[in-house]
Amino acid sequence: MSSPQPISQLSKAFEKTGLNSPKNTVSTSPTTSYFDQYRPSGVKQGKTLKPFSAGDLKILLLENVNQTALDIFAQQGYQVEFLKTSLPEDELIEKIKDVHAIGIRSKTRLTENVLKHAKNLVAIGCFCIGTNQVDLEYAAKNGIAVFNSPFSNSRSVAELTIAEIISLSRELGDRNMELHNGTWNKKSARCWEVRGKTLGIVGYGHIGSQLSVLAEALGMNVLYYDVLMIMSLGNSKQVSSLQELLNNSDFVTLHVPETSDTKQMISTPQLAEMRDGAYLINNSRGTVVDLPALIEALKIGKLAGACIDVFPKEPRANGPYFNGDDLLPFIDDLKTLKNVILTPHIGGSTEEAQSAIGIEVGTVLTKYLNEGASIGAVNFPEVALRALDLDQENVCRILYIHQNVPGVLKTVNQILSEYNIEKQFSDSRGDIAYLMADVSGVNHDDIKNLSAELEATPFNVSTRLLY
Ligand SMILES: NC(=O)c1ccc[n+]([C@@H]2O[C@H](COP(=O)([O-])OP(=O)(O)OC[C@H]3O[C@@H](n4cnc5c(N)ncnc54)[C@H](O)[C@@H]3O)[C@@H](O)[C@H]2O)c1
Repeated sequence: MSSPQPISQLSKAFEKTGLNSPKNTVSTSPTTSYFDQYRPSGVKQGKTLKPFSAGDLKILLLENVNQTALDIFAQQGYQVEFLKTSLPEDELIEKIKDVHAIGIRSKTRLTENVLKHAKNLVAIGCFCIGTNQVDLEYAAKNGIAVFNSPFSNSRSVAELTIAEIISLSRELGDRNMELHNGTWNKKSARCWEVRGKTLGIVGYGHIGSQLSVLAEALGMNVLYYDVLMIMSLGNSKQVSSLQELLNNSDFVTLHVPETSDTKQMISTPQLAEMRDGAYLINNSRGTVVDLPALIEALKIGKLAGACIDVFPKEPRANGPYFNGDDLLPFIDDLKTLKNVILTPHIGGSTEEAQSAIGIEVGTVLTKYLNEGASIGAVNFPEVALRALDLDQENVCRILYIHQNVPGVLKTVNQILSEYNIEKQFSDSRGDIAYLMADVSGVNHDDIKNLSAELEATPFNVSTRLLY
């Protein structure tokens, strides 16, 4: 092993040697640490990492992702190509060939056929909630981490739900329709203030818990039911069963994920448990409510109203598609019922949510590219190491994605054994595992050797080295 040289001189040295990156070794080149801009004064600054070999980081952004994400990438000095639309498959294949990261929304399909051409791709950012437009398994097996933004629109859903609680209570949808049709119908019978009424929240996660705070500010009492024991916010109270919540709530609102347990969790028996004249709101997923059973409960006057934002089948595009033929046979029934507010899955659709999605996905992508942290990845082991100190010289960060099989750590630690391992962390998910390690006392030749040796292991999926 040659004696250590200052790593700051290595970039030039590599250029002179004309060394090419070994196969599957991907270079990323952040110019500044993204988190520098948000670091409060007095907080220690981490070291900005650079790639093992020189090269500009290229990002392809499709489908008009929010400006907030572009700003984040521009701040990094990445080469960004921005397109307002998605691309047909042949054009996508051509463009994806040399990019290190791609940002998409829901229309771009990243199938195995597309991804197999993406030889430099390190990460995919889905600037939306869903990730089923990406072949997640193929991506993971090829060392490509996929990120999304599941919670950026929580506040938007919570606010819509508050609007709906008041709208149902005052029959606002009906009065609006009547007046649009020329009928003046000033009435107060069966219209209520929400103050002092009880809101029952099913699912006390990101949305449910925000909603609880907003509802209490309106003077409502809040009960919630969740499969997990969750600390209450404000004066809200967790109840031990769904039945207890249904028996004691004037408004029931659903904020659970779509799972086999939540499928039709509100059907005839549950509707029967609700208070007479109560209201139901579903802004979660269409499968959670048995719609024919709800229609029946509304028709016989058991419930006084309902809001439905999500449906078991939803049209793929905007347009005149909301009818029984395209959706479900009982939609026509639903459309005729009094005090029923129907919305086209807009719970999370606000400008603020789009902007927050840009920031959230832009940030996690940047953190992964610059520092290797995969926290928030949906298809990949979640691993992170704290930043290197600014004054740490001759330290190299190893990002080694490998097959999850016996014997890997023995082999890797054998390769690293000549150096001081400052910190190391690994985790696995399915067939894929991810190891991050910071090793010190390394020079130009050491980095080159480390990269080549890790690449040559039979378990290697993808190796990146940052210094
Ligand atoms: N309408 C929209 O536009 C819109 C927008 C965003 C999210 N959503 C949907 O809202 C729902 C909630 O989102 P979130 O971000 O609050 O999710 P979250 O994961 O933060 O919270 C869900 C909560 O439900 C609980 N839960 C799971 N199964 C349950 C069960 N069987 N009974 C009771 N509680 C259960 C979980 O423990 C968790 O606390 C999701 O279905 C999401 O897809 C809809």
